[in-house]
Amino acid sequence: MNKKRVLSGIRATGRLHLGNYLGAVKGMLELQNPSAGSGQVYETFYMVADVHTITTPYKTEELRKNRREVIIDYLSAGLNPNASVIFQQSEVAEHLELAFFLSSVVTIAKMQHLPTFKDKVKQYPQNSTMALLNYPILMAADILIYKAELVPVGIDQEPHLEVAREIARRFNTDYGTNFPEPKRFVTKGEYVPSLTGEGKMSKTVEGSYINLTDTLDEIKGKIARIPTDSGLGEEITGGVKSLMELIELFISRERREMLEQEYKTIGIRYGDIKSELSEAIFKEIEPIQKKRAEFENDPALVDRIINEGNEKAREAARETIKEVKEKMGLS
Ligand code: ADP
Ligand code: TRP
Repeated sequence: MNKKRVLSGIRATGRLHLGNYLGAVKGMLELQNPSAGSGQVYETFYMVADVHTITTPYKTEELRKNRREVIIDYLSAGLNPNASVIFQQSEVAEHLELAFFLSSVVTIAKMQHLPTFKDKVKQYPQNSTMALLNYPILMAADILIYKAELVPVGIDQEPHLEVAREIARRFNTDYGTNFPEPKRFVTKGEYVPSLTGEGKMSKTVEGSYINLTDTLDEIKGKIARIPTDSGLGEEITGGVKSLMELIELFISRERREMLEQEYKTIGIRYGDIKSELSEAIFKEIEPIQKKRAEFENDPALVDRIINEGNEKAREAARETIKEVKEKMGLS
């Protein structure tokens, strides 16, 4: 029996933060290491989406560094090269080849109306490029080239998965391919809030995130800056809401419920709560930091893992390209 496949990726725009970790990496780990006895074992492909990084303005030196740093973050968080194919998107040129083939069944209007495209155009009005318009098609190619059925990503990626499903359906109808319709694999941390109290934690919003590499002191400083109020009130919003959500994610749901109750009755003291939360966050990421140091000290090992992963991914990707070209009349 063929194993079901999983694919996910993160852009090479910087060090990973708690949102990436809870929304994406934890799901990747869960699918890589299914609990004993669950029976279902997946074939997992995890990449750094370095080509997607060039769809918005970037610095070449930073990209060069980050496309490796994201892989080191993956390995430190527990992605295991013996269990998963860990690779760099740009090294598997077949992704770009398939993206062009897939673009033949997608209209321009459809891409222009996607909310994720509109948001990015608003963010970078001078850089509304063809690469950006093609972003979701390349992402569909990343997934479909492995015929992946599950994609561990945060909730913000749902519109892109919808595009991937539509492309799969359309391509199957037009060309008789058998692409599965990929589904999002949902984790408990599918939406980690921003420390600013507005929107989601994101690399591109300064002051919104905690990196996996942050020290306890850095975490304490950032948590201390979450905007709060007097500690007593009726409705929980903004920074206080972010704080409560983080407490649920890193401590427990019960702790959050208790504090919310106190907020509405006797009032809460942020100083104590914030240091409790900071400690809990640090406890979760400390082992990742220890492992990171090991990989940083062994660049040859990292190179070997990347090269082997790239080769394995290419092998799998070539098979799909061969099939697609045949079905499209290109061979
Ligand atoms: P960012 O918005 O920080 O640039 P990316 O767009 O590179 O992050 O996202 C990489 C992965 O991390 C995606 O799967 C995305 O859904 C997930 N992710 C990013 N931010 C969050 C968040 N705040 N909560 C949950 N998941 C997130
Ligand atoms: N768009 C994703 C993000 O911003 C990154 C990505 C690119 C991806 N290709 C993918 C995620 C394929 C999952 C599957 O986070």
